[in-house]
Amino acid sequence: MNLTVLKNKQIQKRFFELSEFLKTHQNLWQTRPFHQLPLSWEKHYPHISKWLRNFSEPEIEKYAECLEEYPSLPQPFYTWVHKGKTLSGLASFPYNKISLPSFCFRGVPGKKQKQIQALCQVLDPLVSKDISSVVDWCSGKGHLGRNWFRLQKTPTIFIEKNELLCQQGNLLLNKERITARFLHRDVLKDNLSTELPPQALFLALHACGNLHHQLLKKIFSYQARAFALSPCCYHRIDTEFYQPLSCAGKKINLKLDQNALCLAMLQENPQRPQELKFRRQSMKWRLAFDLVVQEKLGEEKYVSLPSFPRDFLRLPFSDFCQKMIDKNQLSFSLSSSSCEKYLSLGQEKLRIIRGLGLLLNIFRRPLELWLVLDKAMYLQEKGVACQVGKFCSFADSPRNILLFAEFS
Ligand SMILES: C[S@@+](CC[C@H](N)C(=O)[O-])C[C@H]1O[C@@H](n2cnc3c(N)ncnc32)[C@H](O)[C@@H]1O
Repeated sequence: MNLTVLKNKQIQKRFFELSEFLKTHQNLWQTRPFHQLPLSWEKHYPHISKWLRNFSEPEIEKYAECLEEYPSLPQPFYTWVHKGKTLSGLASFPYNKISLPSFCFRGVPGKKQKQIQALCQVLDPLVSKDISSVVDWCSGKGHLGRNWFRLQKTPTIFIEKNELLCQQGNLLLNKERITARFLHRDVLKDNLSTELPPQALFLALHACGNLHHQLLKKIFSYQARAFALSPCCYHRIDTEFYQPLSCAGKKINLKLDQNALCLAMLQENPQRPQELKFRRQSMKWRLAFDLVVQEKLGEEKYVSLPSFPRDFLRLPFSDFCQKMIDKNQLSFSLSSSSCEKYLSLGQEKLRIIRGLGLLLNIFRRPLELWLVLDKAMYLQEKGVACQVGKFCSFADSPRNILLFAEFS
């Protein structure tokens, strides 16, 4: 596949292709197997349903992230997989090799170091050398802005809502004798127009839904020169549905609720086997207990029980059930032999859910790219030149898409 960093017309073309793909197949991806079985699409594609329901757990593990490698995919699943793959294909940005000394990363988690290193390398050839100020948007302790400062020596302002992070960030700046400053501000509430320098480069690494939306909405009043955004947590918005920013996105009328937005984030990180093990057990036990509740209380649908402390999962399953009964003030009891029965039913249900869930994997990345391209389209509609590509490897962060924009 010939991959490119998307620019100008390519952004528009890809956005419309993705819109059509997502819209045409919305009945396939707007359902969540965890909540209701059978899924509405199963009656339309009984052979796909049967095939996915028969996946063994090892097969699910093997093919979840590479469905295209499964020998003899049935139609139309084959077409969906390949179309989804083609439409979400994206090249990495070219980069200049830069080596930031290890002391720059003292106290910075390993993955974050790699993301920052990669982003600085990509930005080096992209960002014009005459930019005179930088704003690190929702900066945390400011690891990105601090490292960028080391390379470019451009005066920097860090904006962060959490006071403790501002204090810790300031300490790091002082320690390294960097003359920059933190502004303790809430980007959603405070008026920053008079505080931010015009013609700045805005950096926004992993700014969640509301926070990157706000930046895009305000960027023109800030008179920015350029910005580099890697969005994450698309579902963290305070409206029921995603509100597209671009006119093109609004016209498409793709209804994306929190569930749909979470789909864009559902990629499991293979680098964390412990976390995965915990997730699987948690899902299995929840499903098993859900079956208990359904049978005892005659509930037909999945009952969304509140979250439970992680420690519950260290107990034997029968004790877990008792804790859940007490915590949710349910009025039934359970023998240990029936606990075993429900546990194996839960395991089987999880296998089926994960098998059917393979279908969702086809649409995760297309949906994420659509969300990023909506922002690029919004800027392009206002005459701003944009580029969209990858800035780091998937292993360093599944949220590895960068939108770079330059204002004339
Ligand atoms: C996912 S972190 C990203 C931090 C940093 N950019 C990085 O990549 O390491 C999001 C940051 O946004 C900050 N934040 C959340 N809400 C905010 C708001 N309303 N105004 C300013 N900062 C906010 C959080 O405290 C947090 O440090």
